[in-house]
Amino acid sequence: MLRRWRSWRPAGFLVVPALSALVGWALAEAAAPASDREVAAGRALYVTLCVVCHGESGRGDGASAAGFATKPSDLTDGRLMNPLPDEFLVNVIRSGGPAEGLSPGMPPFAAYLGPAETRQVVAYLRSIARPPFRPGMAKPIVAVPGAPAQPVFFSHLIHAGSFQIGCQYCHADARRSDYAGLPSVERCMGCHKIVGAQDNPEVLKLHDYWRRGASIPWVRVFKVPEFTYFPHKPHVRAGVECQTCHGPIERMRVVGADTGPALSNDLMHLVGLNPPSRPLTMGWCVDCHRAENARRGTKAPLDCIACHH
Ligand code: HEC
Ligand code: HEC
Ligand code: HEC
Ligand code: HEC
Ligand code: HEC
Ligand code: HEC
Repeated sequence: MLRRWRSWRPAGFLVVPALSALVGWALAEAAAPASDREVAAGRALYVTLCVVCHGESGRGDGASAAGFATKPSDLTDGRLMNPLPDEFLVNVIRSGGPAEGLSPGMPPFAAYLGPAETRQVVAYLRSIARPPFRPGMAKPIVAVPGAPAQPVFFSHLIHAGSFQIGCQYCHADARRSDYAGLPSVERCMGCHKIVGAQDNPEVLKLHDYWRRGASIPWVRVFKVPEFTYFPHKPHVRAGVECQTCHGPIERMRVVGADTGPALSNDLMHLVGLNPPSRPLTMGWCVDCHRAENARRGTKAPLDCIACHH
């Protein structure tokens, strides 16, 4: 029964944060802290393979660092490194920078490091971060099945997760209009005239749109039908967090949405289970409106024409 329930469980975003917090916690508990021996083995591999670019201390000041347009990262900077999950670091180290949208100046090491050795290197990197890394700081990557390929590999995991750029810096219309909006190419260029401008092929695509004065044809992900009215402003002003409706975007390398009606959910209703409504269905809007009005006296509408006019 439990098995069946789990395989049917729709990923309602409202429950995802709580659930993934639990999973994250379980993982953090399960992964035993790296032993001193593991860190020492990782340090030895680091000295052989990485020092030339990232430097003796890890600050990105190795002997060949100056030759790179995108400088080797400061691997000791805990503010940037600590939110990045092991999975991200392993992928960059084994498959090279481009696997996560970073510069090809970071080469792949899969031919030199097996999985166990890569884990040792990661354990070493975790040990040099300042402020220090603690398990649980890096939450697992969230991959939503069916997330579309975008014209530019733009990673929220890097921008909103690691660099912690605020959601509304880029989606600036959310608090003042119906739409959250997508950032213009100019907004991206505010940083990318410099960042990654010379050797990152994904950033070079951005420069190409800019030179042509073209906007980037992003593939739309979250969408309600035309006959429905959804305004961002009242929700943002009422303090509903972006993640409540969109999921943990800052942990996605590619944004995807598990939304809309689903057969599995309908079937659960049929057999008398009472699953939470799927995100972006009418039941989902109305359930939250009822709950919020009851809980904190908001005036979220329940009449048809508020959402259909
Ligand atoms: C030939 C130079 C070179 C070598 C050797 C090298 N790196 Fe890098 N590495 C880079 C550059 C350049 C970047 C920055 C990529 C970017 O920001 O676009 C980078 C980025 C990274 C990142 C991403 C960090 C972040 O900012 O998200 C990690 C992790 C990393 N390197 C680990 C390693 C490890 C571990 C080794 C040794 C096994 C290694 N690198 C060897 C050049 C190198
Ligand atoms: C506030 C500064 C800032 C803004 C605005 C910004 N970026 Fe970035 N971006 C960064 C930084 C910092 C990195 C990491 C650079 C590195 O380590 O190589 C990055 C990395 C990237 C990369 C390579 C890694 C990845 O995400 O795949 C791409 C592509 C990129 N940005 C595209 C964009 C686009 C498109 C926009 C506009 C929608 C944008 N950026 C806006 C700062 C910014
Ligand atoms: C540096 C700019 C930048 C930042 C910061 C940023 N985003 Fe985005 N966001 C984008 C771009 C560009 C896209 C379009 C490409 C894509 O879907 O990844 C996007 C797409 C989205 C989408 C999907 C839009 C659709 O098509 O339905 C959502 C939802 C979203 N962002 C929410 C967030 C949230 C929540 C945060 C903060 C945790 C955030 N974004 C931070 C630039 C940014
Ligand atoms: C109450 C739920 C809810 C909240 C809170 C919310 N959104 Fe949305 N968002 C939606 C829905 C529903 C859509 C689809 C709207 C449509 O199709 O017209 C959407 C669409 C988007 C889009 C696609 C482009 C657009 O403007 O329609 C972006 C980007 C986005 N949201 C970002 C954000 C950000 C950033 C925040 C937080 C500041 C946020 N959203 C808060 C429900 C929400
Ligand atoms: C997570 C909770 C939540 C979800 C999900 C949600 N809303 Fe709301 N909605 C609210 C709250 C809270 C308010 C009103 C707050 C107030 O009293 O100002 C509101 C207000 C509104 C308003 C009134 C706007 C105004 O100007 O008075 C409309 C229209 C609306 N929502 C449409 C929708 C639609 C359509 C959906 C589904 C696509 C949706 N909402 C999903 C919480 C939610
Ligand atoms: C809080 C917002 C909200 C309110 C209030 C609301 N709806 Fe909806 N309604 C939606 C959304 C969002 C959709 C589209 C979601 C979907 O396709 O599942 C929708 C879809 C529908 C559909 C199409 C259903 C389908 O299966 O395609 C009908 C018909 C409908 N609504 C009628 C009503 C009527 C009648 C009322 C008043 C009793 C009402 N709605 C109140 C948000 C709302």
